[in-house]
Amino acid sequence: MTTTVGSEARRFEAVLSILDRYERDSTRLIPILQAVQEEYRYLPEEILTYVAVALDLSPAKVYGVATFYGHFSLEAKGKYVVKVCDGTACHVKGSGPLVEALRKELGLEGKRKTTADLLFTLETVSCLGACGLAPVMVVNEEVHGLATPEAAVAILREIKAREGGKGETK
Ligand code: FES
Repeated sequence: MTTTVGSEARRFEAVLSILDRYERDSTRLIPILQAVQEEYRYLPEEILTYVAVALDLSPAKVYGVATFYGHFSLEAKGKYVVKVCDGTACHVKGSGPLVEALRKELGLEGKRKTTADLLFTLETVSCLGACGLAPVMVVNEEVHGLATPEAAVAILREIKAREGGKGETK
């Protein structure tokens, strides 16, 4: 279908312009992958293969770099990435129950971190350097300190409502 072909072409257009920006210089693989991740919010497999071919590197080398750095993600992430700090101060102040409440609210089971509709990804991270505000939760770039499970769930519900009432309960 034309629309599929069109969106597929657009998908590769972005990586093409990133490669051009870095002059297809394989020594700049890390900044290239950072730019790809910023654009796609993760490193899609077919885009990594494309980058490898364009830079004349083996796909194994590109995957090796992508998996070595914790900063890179090979899995699709939600539009809203929720990070709960599980550093010592936040842990002591209740980050555990906070994560539990958020997982329940998002219906995440087992090892799942991202909701099926790709609206949210929930992650735990180490100290964010704001221990005075423990427990700390960050939604994309927005920092929420002294978070209680109730307040954190309310923040997610507000986002869901803004996004068209997905997951709303009456
Ligand atoms: S331990 Fe959470 S901000 Fe430092």
